[in-house]
Amino acid sequence: MDHFLYRDGVLCAEDVPVAEIAAAVGTPFYVYSTATLLRHYNLFDEALAGTDHVVCYAMKAASNQAILRTLAQAGAGMDVVSGGEYLRAKAAGVPGEKIVFSGVGKTAEEIRIALTGGIRQFNVESEPEMEVINAVAQDLGVIAPITVRVNPDVDAKTHAKIATGKSENKFGIPIARAPEVYARAASLPGLKVVGIDVHIGSQLTDLEPFRLAYSKVAELTEQLRAQGHDIHRLDLGGGLGIPYARSNEAPPLPLEYGAMIKETLGHLGCEIEIEPGRLIAGNAGLMVSKVIYVKSGEGRDFLILDGAMNDLIRPAMYDAYHDIVPVIEPAPGVEQRPYDIVGPVCETGDTFAKQRAMPPLNPGDLVAFRSAGAYGAVMSSEYNTRPLIPEVLVNGDQFAVIRERPTFDEIINRDTIPEWL
Ligand code: LLP
Repeated sequence: MDHFLYRDGVLCAEDVPVAEIAAAVGTPFYVYSTATLLRHYNLFDEALAGTDHVVCYAMKAASNQAILRTLAQAGAGMDVVSGGEYLRAKAAGVPGEKIVFSGVGKTAEEIRIALTGGIRQFNVESEPEMEVINAVAQDLGVIAPITVRVNPDVDAKTHAKIATGKSENKFGIPIARAPEVYARAASLPGLKVVGIDVHIGSQLTDLEPFRLAYSKVAELTEQLRAQGHDIHRLDLGGGLGIPYARSNEAPPLPLEYGAMIKETLGHLGCEIEIEPGRLIAGNAGLMVSKVIYVKSGEGRDFLILDGAMNDLIRPAMYDAYHDIVPVIEPAPGVEQRPYDIVGPVCETGDTFAKQRAMPPLNPGDLVAFRSAGAYGAVMSSEYNTRPLIPEVLVNGDQFAVIRERPTFDEIINRDTIPEWL
């Protein structure tokens, strides 16, 4: 459920007509709904009620500081995967003790930044990384809290580019080697083991892979405890999927996910951490774009938009489906026709949808890409020297620009020309 509904025939973001925002900031742009962000955060929080838990929002999904502060004020922690994300979370006002540091290749510099600013825990991804965390912690005279990310060799049954829990993936240490790695961790004076971490992939639409992975973590918890390790925190990663095509997808609900967590891990008495990103931000954001041209091709019509693959790369990168809806509600019974919906970038990959049934549209009409809040703005680029598009946050009847569109001068002046030219 989200807060982007038609009211009196016009698409609104909460109480603000989307066209009003377009008139104020120009197109294309991203718009987020505060109520939807909070609703989805609260669904997770409520799903884990009764267990000691923290919902650490995976800020890679949408990392604007206004979004981070909205969630942090509701009680969320953050899952970060780079020094930049760590500093951004701090700048948004998130305290270090609510920040979890994940990511496959943390550099010594990033580790230093986090240890200096305070950190809830590092999720260690490899033995060499563990040695570096220990060395930096010793150098700073502090103890680094860690979990080790285990790779449970579970098929997440999602797109290959976002599956992370199979043994052939680059993530974590093989679960069978965990006892050895935890023994090494216990021997390093700069580290304190606090628990276990697992994350098997993103956009999972079935609970079974999670259940399988979490059962393996439950067994490992008992095994490591028997070996004398103080395992009191389980970080279960993110990955719960969202319905992109409203009509035919019904991924499990956070409540069902929470019940499964309690069922598989509840008996261990551990603190539970989860790192959802997509489910919190995905349906809380639209990308709004304008039709520039309607072009009749050989046997097909193209809707050429002012938004492109550099603004929303998911269709080009993962063949992802996004609902695309007109901002003016079509009259009931209006005849739909198929369009190829494309951006102006000079490659065929810049295609958002093929033969998508849409009501008739004309140049100047606005369309909204639904479910674009997660992995939208954060993955955008200035390819073709197209400015990063603005981000807007709505809260009831108010809206604010939370990232401005840069000017062409700002973009161009970032280059420096060597003196020999
Ligand atoms: N925790 C870790 C360690 C992760 O690597 C990720 C996502 C998450 C949590 C959050 O997963 P979520 O709840 O958002 O599924 N760009 C891709 C998705 C990449 C996901 C990467 N890791 C896309 O647009 O589909």
